[in-house]
Amino acid sequence: MPYIQTLPDTFTTPAYYSDKEMLLLPAQLRKKAEKKITELQQTYARLKSLLDLYWTELGLVFSFNNFCWAWYCVNSRSVYFKTETFDCVRDDGNHVALAPFLDLLNHSCKAKIEAGFNTKTKCYEIRTLDKYRKYEQVFISYGPHDNHHLLIEYGFTLPDNSYDTYELDFGKLFFNLDRITKSF
Ligand SMILES: C[S@@+](CC[C@H](N)C(=O)[O-])C[C@H]1O[C@@H](n2cnc3c(N)ncnc32)[C@H](O)[C@@H]1O
Repeated sequence: MPYIQTLPDTFTTPAYYSDKEMLLLPAQLRKKAEKKITELQQTYARLKSLLDLYWTELGLVFSFNNFCWAWYCVNSRSVYFKTETFDCVRDDGNHVALAPFLDLLNHSCKAKIEAGFNTKTKCYEIRTLDKYRKYEQVFISYGPHDNHHLLIEYGFTLPDNSYDTYELDFGKLFFNLDRITKSF
């Protein structure tokens, strides 16, 4: 319970945007954000119908808002945790774990770290391979993500993201090239 009280009440991911805010997103990003929201709605609907059948009391309080909050708590704050002993694993063989304090570390695309469960100390350890001065913020890396991914999954972007990409729409590109060559 004390841990749950430290979790954010809301998130800055597009799933929390108003319709007006969604319209401010560039078209490509808006498309991806809408796809993510549709996936969330579908997952929620599947879980809700299961709960309504098998766990009616929980089904009654299981709203889409509650589901989104839980989803983004786990999605934006959990670590991968590989052990042999648990049954619930992701398709890639990893476990997902929430860990107090550890989930306070912010992302930098430049951060270099080593992380994992140390079976000797029985602790999940994160070791930075970067140099920091006393009182400086220590960063970890959430992965080589571009700004679209960071915004949709974590609710922020980096101004100096070395993994940022610009996706070319070949349909539009060829249409415009065609128009240019025809105008000569
Ligand atoms: C694992 S938590 C990190 C702790 C979080 N800053 C807090 O105060 O609880 C991940 C969230 O922190 C924020 N975050 C992480 N790295 C960031 C960064 N470089 N710039 C802005 N926000 C960041 C995002 O809201 C992200 O969803």
